[in-house]
Amino acid sequence: MSGRWLKERKSDPYYRRARELGYRSRAALKLKQLDERFGFFKGARRVLDLGAAPGGWLQVASESIDEDGLVVGVDLGEIDPLGLPNVSTFVGDVTEEETRNRIFELFGERVDVILSDMAPDVSGAWELDHYRQIHLARVALVIADKLLKEDGWMVVKTFQGSEHDRFVREMHDLFEHVRIVKPRASRKKSAEIYLVAKDLKTDRRLPEEFREEEEA
Ligand SMILES: C[S@@+](CC[C@H](N)C(=O)[O-])C[C@H]1O[C@@H](n2cnc3c(N)ncnc32)[C@H](O)[C@@H]1O
Repeated sequence: MSGRWLKERKSDPYYRRARELGYRSRAALKLKQLDERFGFFKGARRVLDLGAAPGGWLQVASESIDEDGLVVGVDLGEIDPLGLPNVSTFVGDVTEEETRNRIFELFGERVDVILSDMAPDVSGAWELDHYRQIHLARVALVIADKLLKEDGWMVVKTFQGSEHDRFVREMHDLFEHVRIVKPRASRKKSAEIYLVAKDLKTDRRLPEEFREEEEA
């Protein structure tokens, strides 16, 4: 970590606030701000969190739903136990079918909210990072198609870039309502942006690269 980065972090009010509130990530505040605006946790009982480490979004989801609800978090990396009764986590790569099947089995029924804050390890080659990130977001859509309730909510992080407009169209192919939002806690200079969607379409279509798989 560079000295400048550490200094910027220390003076960042959202970083300090997240620590004060006991959240594991600054990102937790972004999810809180999105929920304040859209209210997707209202009445929710089952929530899936893709790319959940270190666990900030899991903490917010856990406190926003009933204690006897279920939040499942999946990540490539281990998530230190949160000690929350309604949270369950496991290590997995969501681009692998085996991981997706395990998610479906864990819930056994459709869920109210799917969250994806997934991001690849950033290589510094911007277009490549952007493509990889959008690919992860597309995989989240494949999961939503199979697992989300018809009137469910989805929140997906994306990196803006050349594929972004296409991805937004793909979200519209799946959902009745799609909004693009930059929460206040998201750094202005960061290319990340969030898509919040609601109500799966009955005649929905998956992104092209997953369509053959589906129709085969
Ligand atoms: C920005 S972090 C998530 C932060 C989290 N929302 C929080 O508040 O603590 C992005 C996460 O996506 C995960 N990720 C990237 N590719 C993934 C994949 N193929 N399957 C599962 N998780 C993945 C990374 O390991 C990383 O932990």
